[in-house]
Amino acid sequence: MGRLLTRTQIQQLVAKHGSEIIEHHHMEIERCCYQHGNVTTFVHSIRVACLAVWMADRAHLWRHVHIKSLIRAALLHDYFLYDWHDWDNGTHRWHGFTHGHAALVNALKDFKLNAIERDSIEKHMFPMTPIPPRYIEGYLVTLADKISATRETLSMGRFHKKALPAKPLRAELQSSRQRPEITQGR
Ligand SMILES: [Fe+2]
Ligand SMILES: [Fe+2]
Repeated sequence: MGRLLTRTQIQQLVAKHGSEIIEHHHMEIERCCYQHGNVTTFVHSIRVACLAVWMADRAHLWRHVHIKSLIRAALLHDYFLYDWHDWDNGTHRWHGFTHGHAALVNALKDFKLNAIERDSIEKHMFPMTPIPPRYIEGYLVTLADKISATRETLSMGRFHKKALPAKPLRAELQSSRQRPEITQGR
């Protein structure tokens, strides 16, 4: 890539390289859950992917960064597929420490991931979790995540949350995720 990428070009790259993930029906769960402020987990993940690409571009890292892995890892970094604000009998008490691994476990069920993607998803909470990412892509994801999360948490939009699809719909989506795949055409 020669010239610096524009915002539109970055969005096009995310749409192109992330299409398998963005179009997956389990992303509906991310669309139904707020992550920070009034930003859903889905929108947060897209933002992290765009910001990670922007940082790689502005730092002239394309010789060292695999763009498709970077985008896919960013889109899946919070693929834990529940609303961490729900109490749910305390199961999400350690969310900050555990959701990187939960996201990886879920992502491996739905997608074929390479080593960069796996490592970057699982370790994106560094330094809150002790093991650092192994690849540059992982550092870009964790940095983009922290910048996006801070912006979203402090945004004035947090006072204007609209209602998202109700919990029963989320529960239905989540239980369909847990059911074994139905084999078609046999
Ligand atoms: Fe996260
Ligand atoms: Fe995140």
